Formats: sequence, structure tokens, C-alpha cells
Amino acid sequence: MSDRLAGKRILVTGAAQGMGRAIAVMAAGQGAESVTITDLKAPGAEETADLVRAAGARASVVLADLTRAEDIRRMIEEAVSFAGGLDTLVNNAGVIDSVLMEGANFDTLDERVWDAVFDVNVRAAWLASQSAAPHLRASERGPSIVNSASVSGINGTQNAVAYGASKAALISLTKSTAVALAPRVRVNAFLPGAIATPMAMEFLDSVDDREYTMNHMTGAHLLPRFGEADEVAEVACFLASDAASFVTGAIYAVDGGTLAWRGLRA
Ligand SMILES: NC(=O)c1ccc[n+]([C@@H]2O[C@H](COP(=O)([O-])OP(=O)(O)OC[C@H]3O[C@@H](n4cnc5c(N)ncnc54)[C@H](O)[C@@H]3O)[C@@H](O)[C@H]2O)c1
Repeated sequence: MSDRLAGKRILVTGAAQGMGRAIAVMAAGQGAESVTITDLKAPGAEETADLVRAAGARASVVLADLTRAEDIRRMIEEAVSFAGGLDTLVNNAGVIDSVLMEGANFDTLDERVWDAVFDVNVRAAWLASQSAAPHLRASERGPSIVNSASVSGINGTQNAVAYGASKAALISLTKSTAVALAPRVRVNAFLPGAIATPMAMEFLDSVDDREYTMNHMTGAHLLPRFGEADEVAEVACFLASDAASFVTGAIYAVDGGTLAWRGLRA
């Protein structure tokens, strides 16, 4: 295992499971000094903290609802006071329409679901970045922000209209934040394709034709399978590391080749 995150004090949102957990644990394995884990879900967040400690870093848990501005500000303050500073903010938490509403599509989508998706996927990333900015600017340890966007922010989606629009907004926010925080703080995003996490599995369970949707999700990859959370964590940790010292405002696809073509493997 490399030590390319040596000394970094990292905060990962939505880290009770899925890619957030994978990023937190991999960061610890790559030498991070400390990792703060934020989520709504206490048991999952505590499990991630145990995994982070086992991988060699200090860990703390901040329970926070990222739809609430006061929770976001508290999350940043608690992370800073636990770690003595902040070098990396990973805005990973996200929600998709189908988790909040059964049968969500363009025609049925409820405006409250639209707002809730934007609250977590865009507004929380903006507020967390804004609150973290003074601490990141003060960091002497290669500060950066890493945002979790999606290929759905580039291509249209059938059953995730608010989600896709929110991820497009997050891509734009990534670039504006990179402009605002240059040259002190680098800001980048990664775009996962279909990754085998609880979110992807719940999405599959929510659609009428599970097999068709699954074939569509994996068949759209040039590498015709689901990606693994660790395959995305590798890229997130690279973007957070000093190995990416000349990378800012960039959008990295980790999508098995989805955005490279318009085809579908049989
Ligand atoms: N899984 C995929 O195929 C896929 C593809 C592209 C992008 N993404 C993005 O990657 C990120 C991680 O996805 P995942 O698949 O690991 O998701 P997941 O649903 O497995 O995990 C997301 C975590 O975010 C937390 N969260 C949600 N709302 C929150 C809130 N209001 N406050 C605090 N925490 C909250 C959840 O509790 C959960 O632990 C998300 O931003 C997602 O949109 C996922």
C-alpha cells in the first residue's frame, strides 16, 4: 500500500457505506493521519471508523443531516477540532430520486423530491466547501476538495431526473470552487459509472424491469460489469494526494468507458 496520503487530515461525507466507506478506509491505508466520517447512519459510520482505525489512522464520527446548514457547519468545526485542521474534504454523500420516491420518473417526480436531491447532492457540497474553505486555505499539507459527481451529470437519465440534473450542477460547482480557491486549494470531481454499492442495488430494486435495467447499466460500460467501490476510491485518493498536484477543476470519469461510446453490449 502506498503512503501517498501521509499526514493528511480528511473528512468524508456519506461514509457509512458504499464508496464513502471505501474512500475513508483506503485513505487510512494510504497513510492519512486522521479521517472524520460523516453520515446520517450511526451504526454504519461507527463500523467505518473501526475499519479506518484498523487501517492505521485516527477516526472520528460526526452524525449530521446534510440537508441542514447548521449540521454542515458543525460537521466542519468538529472535524477541524478533532484533527487540528483539515486538508481534504470529500463531498461524497448523495441521494437518488428512487430512494425518496417510488416510481419516480420525469412525469411523476414530486417537487419535494427534486428539492431533497438538490439539497444533499449540490447545496450540501457548496455549504461544506464554503465552511471548509478557511481551514483548507490555512492548510500546509496539500489541501483539496474531491466531489462525487456521476456520468448521470453528463448523459440524460430515464428514472433519475433530479439526480442527473443535480450531478450536472455539482460538476459546474466543482469548476467554480476550483476557480474560487485557486491557487491554494485544488478542487476536482470524479464521475462513477454503475458501481456495486447499496445505492445502485436499491435503485435496481426500485425499477419495474430489474434485468433490463441491470443489463443496461453494466452493458453501457466497455468493461461490461459493475465497478467496485475500491476502484473509485483509488481515483478519489489519487485526486486528494500530492500526486495530483497539477490537477484542479478536473472531472475524472471512473465509468468503465460509458462516456466513450453510445453503444450497449448484448
Ligand atoms: N453507486 C453508483 O453506481 C453511483 C454512480 C455514480 C455516482 N454515485 C455517487 O457516489 C456517491 C456515493 O454513492 P454510493 O453508491 O456509495 O451511495 P450509498 O447510498 O451507498 O451511500 C451514500 C451515503 O450517503 C449518506 N447520506 C445520504 N443522505 C444524507 C444526508 N442527508 N446526510 C448525511 N448523509 C447522507 C447515506 O446515509 C449513505 O451512507 C454519491 O454521491 C452517489 O450519487 C454513485
